[in-house]
Order: sequence, then structure tokens, then C-alpha cells
Amino acid sequence: MEDTRKILTSTPPMGWMSWNLLAKNISDSAVREMAQAMVSTGMRDLGYQYICMDDHWHGGRDEHGALYPNAEKFPHGIAALADYVHSLGLKLGIYSDAGSKTCGGCPGSGGYEEIDARTFASWGIDYLKYDFCYATDTRADAFALYSRMGQALKNSGRDIVFGICEWGHHRPWLWGNQAGGHLWRTTTDIWDGWKDGPEGWQAGVETIAFDEQRGLESFAGPDHWNDPDMLVVGLKGKGAVVGPGCTDTEYRTQMSAWCMLAAPLMTSCDLRHMDAVTRETLTNPEVIAINQDALGKQGYRVCRSSRAEVWKKPFVNGDWAVALFNREEEPRTVKAHWSDLEIEGRYAIRDLWSRADMGECDESYAFEVDAHGSVLLRLSRA
Ligand code: GLA
Repeated sequence: MEDTRKILTSTPPMGWMSWNLLAKNISDSAVREMAQAMVSTGMRDLGYQYICMDDHWHGGRDEHGALYPNAEKFPHGIAALADYVHSLGLKLGIYSDAGSKTCGGCPGSGGYEEIDARTFASWGIDYLKYDFCYATDTRADAFALYSRMGQALKNSGRDIVFGICEWGHHRPWLWGNQAGGHLWRTTTDIWDGWKDGPEGWQAGVETIAFDEQRGLESFAGPDHWNDPDMLVVGLKGKGAVVGPGCTDTEYRTQMSAWCMLAAPLMTSCDLRHMDAVTRETLTNPEVIAINQDALGKQGYRVCRSSRAEVWKKPFVNGDWAVALFNREEEPRTVKAHWSDLEIEGRYAIRDLWSRADMGECDESYAFEVDAHGSVLLRLSRA
């Protein structure tokens, strides 16, 4: 069958998602303020585009079965909010669920796919995150339920990015694209911490980055991305979804890893009140360029020595992004050997976080990397 699908995410989507910071406290005013901050911080012009409402925007279903928003939180309705977000040159995302209820207990779209997709389209929605609570939890059902909404979104006549969120339970990288998805979560919920949280579903940055994405690189590419969940950069333990927070070094490591993984860059901190370090972490154009490279290859680990890792990701112009990671509790020297990277010859090295040219090398390159830290390099043929 001819695939006539229009490409909506030729590079990984970038934006902000409300869940970690606001959870139930989502509101029209918070979404507008976040959109304004996206512009005033310069993030929009760096590619951050989607302002996504997560769970708890809902009021209920009317007598025709159509969803409506919570009137106290969204007194002007969603269409007016979408108009405002669009007027800033940004796009609006919304959240629903394949089952009878969302994870937070609001009305789900199970059985209402067509009418909900039409409602979202009529409001001017550009992105749907589609969760999997209260749904029959088998792979066949997951595929069927996501395909139903995927088709309904196509039928809606509006271009809406479809984010599958079944937490990687049924290997969505094998069927998500066919179900109409542009991206699919590969993990349970990220939590604002380096190590995992006390509940089984609270995955720390370290686990997601280094243990859970390996082997998935062949399933990602333009318009079909693996999604290791939101960036927690800058939350600093202050989110409504509680976590202990990470150090600035660990947040930077998350950004390094997510860029190397060609992961969606969905920020979740308070963009209205970012400190200088958070802003720097999220707005380094040379780092973002790794993530947004047109080739759309997901980077991967090429070698490790104990808990130090070297990863690579190709750029479309023949350059290489190389990441040096140190998962240990002490600083250590991490060395990238050309043989491990499977490259030959002389390369000019640029350190992307410090934005400094580091000279040329033709065999290996070593760097002192902080505990839980990362170094990002761009190698260009000399
Ligand atoms: C699930 C998802 C989260 C978030 C919440 C909302 O846990 O995985 O990302 O959307 O539901 O209730």
C-alpha cells in the first residue's frame, strides 16, 4: 500500500510538557505563561515548538459525547488557548488515553477515538500524547487501540503529531509507526533524580540513559522516534511530580544523552524561572544541532570501560558527534579511540559544551570527565 503520510517530525519534536512541573495544577494561564517564556528565553528560535498540556485539563463529556475542558482551569476554552499559542509561532499539544480513563482518572478516549480526534482538530491541536492506563494490556490490544486513534487523527483532517505512551511495555518500536505514531515512549515515567525512585515506575536519568535505550537505535529515524520521556533539566526537586532533583552536572548529562539519542526534547521545568545554568543547558545551539541533525540517526554506545562510556552519532555532513560519559562517583579520564569509533584519519575536535576548538587528532582523544558528567565533541575531517 502506498504510504501517503505527510512527514510531521522530520527531526525529534522539541517543546515543553506540563506533567512534571504542574501535574493537576495545569491551567490556561500557566500554559500561556510557559508559551511566552518559550519566546522570551529564545527557546522558540532554537527549535522548541510544542507547548503540551498533559493530564488533568479535562472537565468531562457533554451530551453528544464530546470532551470539554475544566472550566475553572480553562475559562476561555482550548480553541482560544490554541489561537494564542499559535499567535506566538508555537504549537499546542494535548493529552488523552487509549482506555476508559486517563492515568489521573479523567475521561479517556477508548471508544471515543473519532469524536475526540475531531474535537482536538477543531480546537487547533497539533500534538497528542496518548497514554495507556485503564486499557487492556496486551500487545495486540495496544496495537489495535493505538491504530484506532492513529487512524482517527488522520481522518480528522489536521496534522497532529501522535505520541504513543505505553511505557515500552509491548515494544512499541516494533509497531508504533504502523499504528500511526510519530514517537513512542520506551520507558516508564522519568523521575527528577539521577537514581531510580522508590516506586518501580520511577526511572532515574541514569537508568534511562545508559541501560534502557541500548539496542533501540535501529528503530528510530525521521518521523518515527524513540521517546525516553521528558527532560527533567532544571526541575531541581520542585516539580508537582516529586523527585529529589539532580545536580547541574547530571542535568547536563541528561541533555547530552537525549541529544545523542535523537530523543524528543520535551522540557518540563518552569521556563518562567530558569536559572542561568538551566538556561545554558537547554539552549546551547551546537548541542541541539546534534539532536536536530537531518540524518536523524540515534546515537549509541561504542565502548565502555567499567562505568565510563563512549557514544557516537553521525551528522548528515559526515561529521561525528562523540559523547564521553562518566557514571562513576569520582572524576575520571575517558578516552575515545578512533578504532572504537570506527573512524580513520585526522579530525578537528570541538568541545560543544565549552564551545571551544581543541585542535586536531588522528588516533584518540582523552578528557577528564566529572562524576556523573558528560563531554560532547564534534569531530570534523581536518
Ligand atoms: C502516565 C504517563 C506520564 C503522565 C501521567 C499523567 O504516568 O506515563 O507521562 O502523562 O500518566 O497522569
